Amino acid sequence: MTLLDTDYDKIRTGHKDRQEPAYFQVHAVEAYYGESYIVQGVSFNVHEGEILALLGRNGAGKTSTLRAIARVDNPALRHGEIWLDHQPLHKMKAHQASACGVALVPEDRRIIPGLTVEENLQLAQIAPPVGWSIQRIYELFPRLGERRKQEGVTLSGGEQQMLAIGRALARDVKLLLLDEPYEGLAPVIVQEIERTLKEIKSLGMTTVIVEQNAIAALKLADRAVILDMGQVVFDGAAQEVLDNTKLREEYLAI
Ligand SMILES: Nc1ncnc2c1ncn2[C@@H]1O[C@H](COP(=O)(O)OP(=O)(O)OP(=O)(O)O)[C@@H](O)[C@H]1O
Ligand SMILES: [Mg+2]
Repeated sequence: MTLLDTDYDKIRTGHKDRQEPAYFQVHAVEAYYGESYIVQGVSFNVHEGEILALLGRNGAGKTSTLRAIARVDNPALRHGEIWLDHQPLHKMKAHQASACGVALVPEDRRIIPGLTVEENLQLAQIAPPVGWSIQRIYELFPRLGERRKQEGVTLSGGEQQMLAIGRALARDVKLLLLDEPYEGLAPVIVQEIERTLKEIKSLGMTTVIVEQNAIAALKLADRAVILDMGQVVFDGAAQEVLDNTKLREEYLAI
């Protein structure tokens, strides 16, 4: 039997008559904070090496979705499946998901006080699986190399974001989850981080980026998922959102 291109597309996108699951699949995920039902049946797929922009208004459930994927305790995952490279994340605890290659870079960046830049990176490599060498991280972010002996929490906001991403890469990452990486940063620093994210993508990293700066995220991303009140209201090409004023006004207020 000869497969048509469209058949391959179905396989890659995890279409219901697929023969092989997509690299990263979120299927009918429901998550709760206590009794508050927040993530209300979210499903999407990400292909290997793709960047997905996960967008939506304040309170739409973006951070909660990332946290559910990374398997942190709150919100509690009560329903659904999450698969990364054939591994069932939904059956795991956070440390197991991390060992499987899930790296969540949270909004507050969580740089560890009292440690230098280099010590923050070394700490990430204390347990296997180790990813990039510290030297390679400095090549991607020369500013971090220049400030290797400086205490991490004294870095500028942009440099702290670089350190948070560098720390993720210091582990063997298969799925990079970025929560508002551009938040509070000057446009010139946003551009610098954008450039490094493109470089990381060119190496084949699969990434989900949550951003209030939707235009910047859409320009970087291949595909976009829009959440509204804990549900998916759009799933398609990033360019489609850039081109669709109505969709942007309705769900992104841009
Ligand atoms: N720890 C928590 N306990 C209870 N409710 C929470 C908790 N964290 C978030 N929520 C609620 O869950 C909903 C979704 O929040 P979430 O942080 O996922 O939104 P978001 O899309 O990331 O928004 P933002 O763009 O403002 O970061 C909100 O109504 C929020 O108030
Ligand atoms: Mg958030």
